[in-house]
Amino acid sequence: MERILVIGSSGQIGSELVLELRKIYGNNNVFATDIKNPTEELKNSGPFQILDVLNYQNLLHFLVRHNITQVYNLAAVLSGNAEKIPLQAWDINMKALMNTLMAARKSDAKKLFWPSSIAVFGPTTPRQNTPQLTVMEPNTVYGISKLAGERWGEYFFNRYGVDFRSVRYPGLISYKTEPGGGTTDYAVEIFFDAVKKECYQSFLSENTALPMMFMDDAIKNTIKLMETDPSKLSVRSSYNMAGISFTPKELADEIKIHKPNFKISYKPDFRQAIADSWPASIEDSIAQKDWGLETAFDIKKMTKVMLEEIEKKINNRKY
Ligand code: SER
Repeated sequence: MERILVIGSSGQIGSELVLELRKIYGNNNVFATDIKNPTEELKNSGPFQILDVLNYQNLLHFLVRHNITQVYNLAAVLSGNAEKIPLQAWDINMKALMNTLMAARKSDAKKLFWPSSIAVFGPTTPRQNTPQLTVMEPNTVYGISKLAGERWGEYFFNRYGVDFRSVRYPGLISYKTEPGGGTTDYAVEIFFDAVKKECYQSFLSENTALPMMFMDDAIKNTIKLMETDPSKLSVRSSYNMAGISFTPKELADEIKIHKPNFKISYKPDFRQAIADSWPASIEDSIAQKDWGLETAFDIKKMTKVMLEEIEKKINNRKY
């Protein structure tokens, strides 16, 4: 029987991943932890505890006490926020990972998921159809920490048998929990503003193409990777995952199909330079071949669901 710990369960990915894992493995076998309070839905569906992953002893104790077999460690400072506090962000992101790797080594929680990102690539990487193996010279603190983390994950797999698994997420688009402090956040904010006020000021310029993915696809594929027979996995650093690539203008045009009065303006800030250093599109055939990566949402389907769900959410709040 699997017993799963999700670290960072109150965040954008965690708040949806926990619910999905609980459906599969049973509510009481999926432990949600964070330093922030969870959503109501998450709190009411199974165990939640405040746990700071930066405290190694507490983490190890938790794994042993609850007989944990798998860990998803989603705790991180995202790209935009990391540039404001570079040394702290490096410290938090690396320590959170290293504690989990060491605790996995010392306990029965040998299977570990840790998210990497398109941020591992940099300005010298080929920008279109970026392959799995290529030049990697990230120039953001977040990207440097993700690339270093991938290397450590692979090292712990080879050296200590920790069953480390990872994907390089594109920007993730969700309506349940919003991201905070990322460069791809515009693609979530734009939907909330479209519903609330029919206009949005983008902090990225109109033609900045970035790879993105709808949360349902991200969650489904993450669990799929974790359920794959280990012998099939040829990549123990992190798998490229392409999703769908589009620009702020293309997304705005799609929103206008549903909301003809929607207006977008552009005022690029410091995150533009981060976006410019990342790939515009990604190549992910190795993930498709090794563990069957597949997605169901294109920009049209995603836009429709995002607008419908946010309408519902905002209307429910009013009454
Ligand atoms: N979406 C993240 C960010 O923008 C990248 O992994 O920081």
